[in-house]
Amino acid sequence: MYKTDHFPVMYKEALDALNVQTNELYIDCNLGLGGHTSLLLERGARVIGIDADHEAIEHCRERFGKELESGTLKILHMNFSKLNEIPLEDKVAGILYDLGLNLGQLKDSARGFSFHDTGELDMRMDTTLGVKAIDLIRLLNEDQLSKLIFEYGEDPQARIFSKAIKIAVKNGKINTPSDLAEVIRKASKYPHSKLHPATRTFQALRIAVNSELDSLRESLANAIPLLKTGGRLVIISFHSLEDEIAKSLAESQQLISITKKPIEASLDEVEKNPPSRSAKMRIYEKQ
Ligand SMILES: C[S@@+](CC[C@H](N)C(=O)[O-])C[C@H]1O[C@@H](n2cnc3c(N)ncnc32)[C@H](O)[C@@H]1O
Repeated sequence: MYKTDHFPVMYKEALDALNVQTNELYIDCNLGLGGHTSLLLERGARVIGIDADHEAIEHCRERFGKELESGTLKILHMNFSKLNEIPLEDKVAGILYDLGLNLGQLKDSARGFSFHDTGELDMRMDTTLGVKAIDLIRLLNEDQLSKLIFEYGEDPQARIFSKAIKIAVKNGKINTPSDLAEVIRKASKYPHSKLHPATRTFQALRIAVNSELDSLRESLANAIPLLKTGGRLVIISFHSLEDEIAKSLAESQQLISITKKPIEASLDEVEKNPPSRSAKMRIYEKQ
């Protein structure tokens, strides 16, 4: 089991936003290592926790043995895009999204999500999926790769990077995430920038490998009918492409937007947990 002594992102804000009530049912769409779910359970809620990652599921089955046995928690290995396929007897009081990667995925160098990883350039959350990041950089041509890095990474240097990547791939120089990060760093106009120059390319490949944006769109559309009147939909996102999708829910006739502007993590939290600096939370209520 991974260590789980960290607090989940914006946990106080998320619990308040969900307006957690004892015995009511909540869906945690990004179970991860179980941080938010454990706090929901502590408040007396019933939870269905889902994750596409088999290792996260195994971790939580071990962590929450007691709650699984008592029936206060159900764990499902699935993509959240298929939320409508969950067998439910009743509507739910709240649905939570905490998008992105869990600490286990980031720290396991065999998963290929981090710049320093020396395993395969994989990046699949669900390891039963067919296409890995290494396949994409080998199979896409320079134009396609540039488009992908520009659209999903919003990186103005997309064309420069795709060219450097394709040359390195042709010469057999990219096998691992660390190889890829180094090729991009060398090609970048700003090789010593504070944010690693490969950050946006890694984001783009991860989004493409896991169809992240389509899954989120599909999932949110499927989430709305599952909510009871007054039920809350809470989305914590980590980059502008996800936040745009979360924001577009404001147009739904069935939801009231509780947050005109997204809520951000407190300075105190950002200091303790730097990745929370890019978190944005939007809250909706079913009419
Ligand atoms: C940021 S972590 C969640 C952390 C969790 N809230 C906690 O407190 O431990 C995001 C999780 O969502 C999962 N995930 C991402 N996209 C998914 C999808 N489309 N369907 C199901 N799970 C997904 C990832 O595998 C990862 O475990």
